[in-house]
Amino acid sequence: MHQTIAVLDFGSQYTQLIARRIRECHVYSKIYHFGVKAAELKRDGVCGIVLSGGPSSVFTRRAPLPDKKIFELGVPVLGICYGLQLMTHLLDGVVEETDHREYGHSTLEISDKTLLLQGISRSIRVWNSHGDRVIKLPRGFQGTARTGNSNYATIEHRKKKLFGLQFHPEVSHTEQGLLIIQNFLTKICGCRGDWSMADFLEQSVQAIREKVGDKRVILGLSGGVDSSVAAALIHRAIGSRLQCVFVDNGLLRLHERDAVVNLFSRNFKMNLRVVRASSLFLGKLKGVTDPERKRKIIGKTFIEVFDDVVRSIGQVDFLAQGTLYPDVIESVAIDGNPASLIKSHHNVGGLPKRMKLKLLEPLRELFKDEVRVLGEELGLPREVLLRQPFPGPGLGVRVIGAITPRNLRVLREADAILNEEMIASGYYYKVWQSFAVFLPVRSVGVMGDKRTYENVIVLRIVESLDAMTADWVRLPYEILQTVSTRIINEVKGVNRVCLDISSKPPGTIEWE
Ligand code: XMP
Repeated sequence: MHQTIAVLDFGSQYTQLIARRIRECHVYSKIYHFGVKAAELKRDGVCGIVLSGGPSSVFTRRAPLPDKKIFELGVPVLGICYGLQLMTHLLDGVVEETDHREYGHSTLEISDKTLLLQGISRSIRVWNSHGDRVIKLPRGFQGTARTGNSNYATIEHRKKKLFGLQFHPEVSHTEQGLLIIQNFLTKICGCRGDWSMADFLEQSVQAIREKVGDKRVILGLSGGVDSSVAAALIHRAIGSRLQCVFVDNGLLRLHERDAVVNLFSRNFKMNLRVVRASSLFLGKLKGVTDPERKRKIIGKTFIEVFDDVVRSIGQVDFLAQGTLYPDVIESVAIDGNPASLIKSHHNVGGLPKRMKLKLLEPLRELFKDEVRVLGEELGLPREVLLRQPFPGPGLGVRVIGAITPRNLRVLREADAILNEEMIASGYYYKVWQSFAVFLPVRSVGVMGDKRTYENVIVLRIVESLDAMTADWVRLPYEILQTVSTRIINEVKGVNRVCLDISSKPPGTIEWE
């Protein structure tokens, strides 16, 4: 039995990040609803509890409250931000409502290097995001560090092993934050730190079996990292009761369909239904030039095609999706911030409601790099696990203007050349994305003795950490030259290759 740390979710955007940091310390973490009963945590044998932050104030009506008995379990508790205020408030200390939020960096001055703060420098920069602050400690507690804004930035009840941090140790902006978490896990909760992704695999397989029972699962396989790992994982758990569906929407890259069939059908022996829907998609897209309309049509048609498949394969109860944690945050507009809704991503949402299928999202807690490690455990090849992201609407948003079979052919061939050269030079794995874009613009050129009047291909090669911001890659001239010469010589219909040197923002990564 693995040691488990419970993370109680009070709605913080960082809850999953806390869980991930704990896993980085090789300890298993499980996220619970904030209201989970102390008895359930006891039954699960958790060896520590973390209260996440959250957007609420303890003063708001219907502020989320935990079962107060969790403080009596004898299990160490670490309250982060709202978690610290909750602990103070519930244990009869005093929290003060302040008018201004403290948001961003501050300096933490440590006065007492207790177990939690062992090995941390006397003064560190920490990341804050809170409105209220503690002004009187509950009985038995002591303050161990302060910031300019708060005398009680870290607090603890040594005997009861209750701890609170006003700042966020889980975010990378907090110096030595991971060490604080590690101290909590090893020095206070007594965690051994012997958990690994192989254990996650085993636990997930069990959990999928329990959830699915003897029912069937359908999964839309795109061949990308996320859906591939989800498919391999679910296949490991329930074998032939997983039905994968690959939709050829006519907007795929060169040889993409064959690669997916080879790997999943031939190697992994999965049930894979390949739907050849190219003419359906291209028919509906005929003459459409507006990017948002294209996206909507592609998304809607995908759902229709998928719907038909579901109907045709008989009884299925679950729809599996390779949703990752960052997808979950990106699809929610936080604080009404419309940034996440700039383009309509159709990967999350849309499908299940119409279909009355239950959702199965076994990667929901994981970040991308963790998914890759899991994929390795499952025996997926490196080319799949290290594949660059590819948008759901595929080449549809890379053929600018009207999508015609001819324009698609030109883009596909140019893109394949870029891809080959990126892989040959080793740059493919160093950048975030590298792809070609087709412009419906013709320019004059000369080839042999003839004047040409042909299309333009743009190379878009970017580096990024999370696709929220990106910069163009300074690729060596030699590689650019090879790519340009090859595209112009080998792809009929192109006489000019340009390089996109815009960053995001203000440009986006895709052109549409
Ligand atoms: P943008 O163009 O918004 O893209 O800077 C950010 C990242 O998201 C990918 N992208 C999509 N992925 N469905 C997807 O699965 C989509 O509709 C979609 N649109 C953009 C894009 O390739 C980049 O990595």
